[in-house]
Amino acid sequence: MTDAIFCAATYTFADTQSVLDFIEQKLPREEYARYGNPSEKVAEQKLAALEGGEAGLIFSSGMSAVAAVLLSLLQSGDEIILFDECYHRTREMCTEWFAKYGVVTHQVPACDYERMEAAVNKNTKLLISESPTNPHLSVVDIERFVALGRKHGVATLIDSTLATPMNLRPLEYGVDYVLHSLTKYLAGHNDMLGGALVGSQENIEPIRKFRGVFGMVNGPHNIYLLLRGLKTFELRMRRHNENGQAVAEFLEQHPRVEKVYYPGLPSHKYYDLARRQMDGYGGLVTFLVKDADADQTAAVVDAVRLPRIGPSLGGVESLIEQPIVMSYHDFTPEARRAVGIPDNMIRIACGIENSNDLIADLEQALAE
Ligand SMILES: Cc1ncc(COP(=O)(O)O)c(C=O)c1O
Repeated sequence: MTDAIFCAATYTFADTQSVLDFIEQKLPREEYARYGNPSEKVAEQKLAALEGGEAGLIFSSGMSAVAAVLLSLLQSGDEIILFDECYHRTREMCTEWFAKYGVVTHQVPACDYERMEAAVNKNTKLLISESPTNPHLSVVDIERFVALGRKHGVATLIDSTLATPMNLRPLEYGVDYVLHSLTKYLAGHNDMLGGALVGSQENIEPIRKFRGVFGMVNGPHNIYLLLRGLKTFELRMRRHNENGQAVAEFLEQHPRVEKVYYPGLPSHKYYDLARRQMDGYGGLVTFLVKDADADQTAAVVDAVRLPRIGPSLGGVESLIEQPIVMSYHDFTPEARRAVGIPDNMIRIACGIENSNDLIADLEQALAE
């Protein structure tokens, strides 16, 4: 079955009575594309089903989903608390842009629940984290995170982009809002941008109204690509998980590798928690090249043939980057050190290629 693409910006009515029936909600149908379209509704239902939520809501990008939840929930004087390993653009949105509108952001070290609790006060409205984080792959104890929010009557949001609903389902723990960059594993082919929120009807419907006013909707062709990507999501994700694990195990035993960050390795700081909480660990693997400076690390990246150099993750093709050159190029060396991004760090987003090919490629790159 091929999904339809609905290009209509407006949906016309046969007569005035049809308009009135629609307004009185007697006639379920579309009206105007800023309020949604039929295939977007299908995709939203699929995302909600995958996460075990009542409702899903799609946006033009992951960042517009972040902006929408913050803009619709917060007002001037409100405070939010983030773990400091959140995606750096999410942190930038909060600390630089929302600050202009009087929203106060506290950043606390990732997985430090005491520091997070100490930052809560009567103005706190939202606790935000990712799990696992990027690029350190720290795993947040969602049970503790939710308990903290509930104790203080503060809503919780987990950006579950790296985990995907195949590996983690935060709503089962009582998280209020789950966020995804659909650009990554869920669409899965590095050919569209999208974002989503999933949660209860009560939490999602006000944000749907907000989206209808602010217009952060996605386009019909992208929705088609998302629906097509979702058809193979489980198969792809299974392979991402297998490749991530195989590449992490290979790197960990390599003499030119100082350290590997991957939640599926027993050496990882959060291995026990990851095993309890997750069903797989994804395709993202971060490692440090032993005794290498920035240039020597760049030489390893350049010697790799199969993964292409580029930002992002979760697509069928593997990608590789040196964070100081790519994602963190606009940070000062001090700011990079503060967030734990050393010169010799490399991040691989494993695609769905054969893991033997990926490993052979990394072997030759590290040998050079
Ligand atoms: C964890 C995480 N959240 C959100 C985003 C933003 O998503 P998008 O690029 O679709 O706006 C990204 C993008 O890299 C991400 O890695």
